[in-house]
Amino acid sequence: MSFTFQNFPADRDTLRSDVLAGLATSPKAIPPKYFYDEPGCRLFEAICAQPEYVLCRTEQALMNTRVSDIAAAIGPVECIIEPGAGDCAKVRLLLDTLRPAHLVAMDIAGAPLAVAAKGLSRDYPDLAVTALGMDFIHDLEAAAPYLPTADRRLIYYPGSSIGNFPPDAATALLARFRQLAGTAGQLLIGFDLKKDPQRLHAAYNDAAGVTAAFNLNLLARLNRELGADFDLARFRHYAFYNPVAGRIEMHLVSLAEQDVKVAGQRFHFALGETLHTEHSYKFRCDEFSTIAKNAGWRLTAEWQQDGFAVQLYG
Ligand code: AVI
Repeated sequence: MSFTFQNFPADRDTLRSDVLAGLATSPKAIPPKYFYDEPGCRLFEAICAQPEYVLCRTEQALMNTRVSDIAAAIGPVECIIEPGAGDCAKVRLLLDTLRPAHLVAMDIAGAPLAVAAKGLSRDYPDLAVTALGMDFIHDLEAAAPYLPTADRRLIYYPGSSIGNFPPDAATALLARFRQLAGTAGQLLIGFDLKKDPQRLHAAYNDAAGVTAAFNLNLLARLNRELGADFDLARFRHYAFYNPVAGRIEMHLVSLAEQDVKVAGQRFHFALGETLHTEHSYKFRCDEFSTIAKNAGWRLTAEWQQDGFAVQLYG
């Protein structure tokens, strides 16, 4: 059993500069990667258990039902690379089926990743596990020295995380995945499909208010980490499906005219002004494969179930 953990420390200065820059733009915006501090990770897990948010369960069901076809299409794999691995739960199915020699798991939340990856290395004694606590959106290339010199690399990017990037940024990220995977590498990616907007609307407006708490936790995080003084009761979670852009938009809308202090700087919110927190793009399969093709990937297989798709690229 081999286990390596390397932390690329989350840079408080980057959070500070990204947030200050985002609050100075119009409309105000904060990158969604900052949702995922420890309470945010727990809230995201709770979202996945809500009856309205079927995305994670549907993907899991698709993977469980189709795993032998998927494994046959992939063929032999030496190393699985999972950006945004979180609790490392999803990759277990592929480890069981593909039996690679190496796993390289990355996540912005380094401490929970280390615990989860260590658990994996106990459960898979023949697997060499490398856990990288990193903001891979920023630092992906820093993972290269940790990859074994294997040709047969598979990048696994499930959960429709790619939907949280605007199309240009998604293309750029997939092109960086292509570089990391190498010319003989493959990409297995899951994404949410366009569907009845009412279903999408409900998924981001669950009755228990968990998505609202997840969205508002961003402000709580800024209070904790940047000494901000957001009054959470004066912002409203507001999420809707925009069919023109093909995306869910998540906002925190100011319920009053107010000033907020963040990292020593004062920002004014007009009544009804929004702080944009997330886009979650939904795709048709052909739309997504065009994005991937522009990033240098070639579609080799595709599976769909209940409004969710998994595609394999080489
Ligand atoms: C992680 N990501 C794919 C989720 C999504 O659906 O865009 C994050 C999320 N935001 C609100 N609910 C879930």
